[in-house]
Amino acid sequence: MSETPSLAPARSTDASNVDQTSEQATSSTLVYAGTTDSVQFGEALRINPPGAAPIAVFRTDEGFFAIDDTCTHQDASLADGWVEDCTVECPLHEACFDLRTGVPSGPPASRPVVTHAVRVVEGAVYVEITHARDVDAA
Ligand code: FES
Repeated sequence: MSETPSLAPARSTDASNVDQTSEQATSSTLVYAGTTDSVQFGEALRINPPGAAPIAVFRTDEGFFAIDDTCTHQDASLADGWVEDCTVECPLHEACFDLRTGVPSGPPASRPVVTHAVRVVEGAVYVEITHARDVDAA
């Protein structure tokens, strides 16, 4: 795992969207993860966005991927796992998660990890974090 870079201030993507049927709103925030050179192919870095769970950012031959860093089986950092193709193997009990979907390939993990969209802009890697919140019905 690479060192965690310092985070630039998070900025809003102005992606607020109110779903009238569910009475929930979502918004998203772009969090700077580092430069494209700060994570090597087949490796990951861990970021700690304010107000969100730690996120692991991976670089593969297929591009950059971001998932929640904590394994859904127990408390292990997936950024410390082994990357092959587009999967990461948990360092504790070897469950493998698809970086594109977060779905584990088998036991002992049974629940997917949350995935996050990644945007690469002019050599900088950003992770999009979506927040849901209840909205008062009018
Ligand atoms: S902690 Fe990840 S598979 Fe057990």
